[in-house]
Amino acid sequence: MWWADPAQAHPGLFDLLDERERARHARFRLAADRDRFVVAHALARLVCAQRADCAPEQVRFTLHCRNCELRREPRTDPHGKPRPAGAALGLEISISHSGDRVVLAVTDGVEVGVDVEAVAEERDIDGLASYTLTAEELALWRGLPAARRTPGFFRYWARKEALLKATGDGLSGGLGTVGVTGPDAGARVVSWDAPDAPADVWLTDLDAGADYRAALAALVPGPLDLTIREAAPLLCAC
Ligand SMILES: CC(C)(COP(=O)(O)OP(=O)(O)OC[C@H]1O[C@@H](n2cnc3c(N)ncnc32)[C@H](O)[C@@H]1OP(=O)(O)O)[C@@H](O)C(=O)NCCC(=O)NCCS
Ligand SMILES: [Zn+2]
Repeated sequence: MWWADPAQAHPGLFDLLDERERARHARFRLAADRDRFVVAHALARLVCAQRADCAPEQVRFTLHCRNCELRREPRTDPHGKPRPAGAALGLEISISHSGDRVVLAVTDGVEVGVDVEAVAEERDIDGLASYTLTAEELALWRGLPAARRTPGFFRYWARKEALLKATGDGLSGGLGTVGVTGPDAGARVVSWDAPDAPADVWLTDLDAGADYRAALAALVPGPLDLTIREAAPLLCAC
């Protein structure tokens, strides 16, 4: 796992992007979105190249949306979970970015999902909770002291989204279909109301600092051996 900061964006990283990534980069109106994007995608290419022992330009990514693949919906615009291809075929990755945090998870083929969320006051957090939390989660969440509800909600959200990113469903999988332990308990899946829910799942919280909540999920029964790194030296070197 690699943590990076959007402030580490520089033109050398943009040069690492492929044509499709550059086109997406150009569509962001806000500089902050462009920085998160360039740092995340350059980092993904650099780390995969390092792991595959190849040049960054030999690493490609194909995009897979499980929702569209299951429905066999003809979509012309590639979207969804990036999967390493070319010289890095066989690796699995997941990307997340929020506020000042960019995170990348890379495995040797284990399907993985990572999510980081900035804890932000939402205008209608109760409304958001009521359609993203299961009945059991909602009851527990509503019982939290008022000051703990916002961070608690983002703890739930990060865990659930990490799971849906591991499967490749993304948010179209429905955050409410998967139930996890409450914010004070160790991260674990307690229910998954989907016909094709994975049998083996490992979930863990990640420390992204006080104002963030983050989680990592992998479709394996046991814990992964996690190495957590700072991306700065790798990003600055090019
Ligand atoms: C993609 C999605 C999971 C991102 O969540 P988010 O909290 O906004 O953003 P994050 O920073 O955590 O994650 C973004 C990354 O998730 C990855 N991602 C996109 N779709 C994914 C999927 N189905 N599964 C796993 N990862 C996915 C991408 O690498 C993306 O990075 P990028 O935007 O820089 O390319 C979520 O917005 C989603 O599922 N959207 C799809 C809903 C939709 O529009 N569906 C219509 C087409 S089916
Ligand atoms: Zn889709």
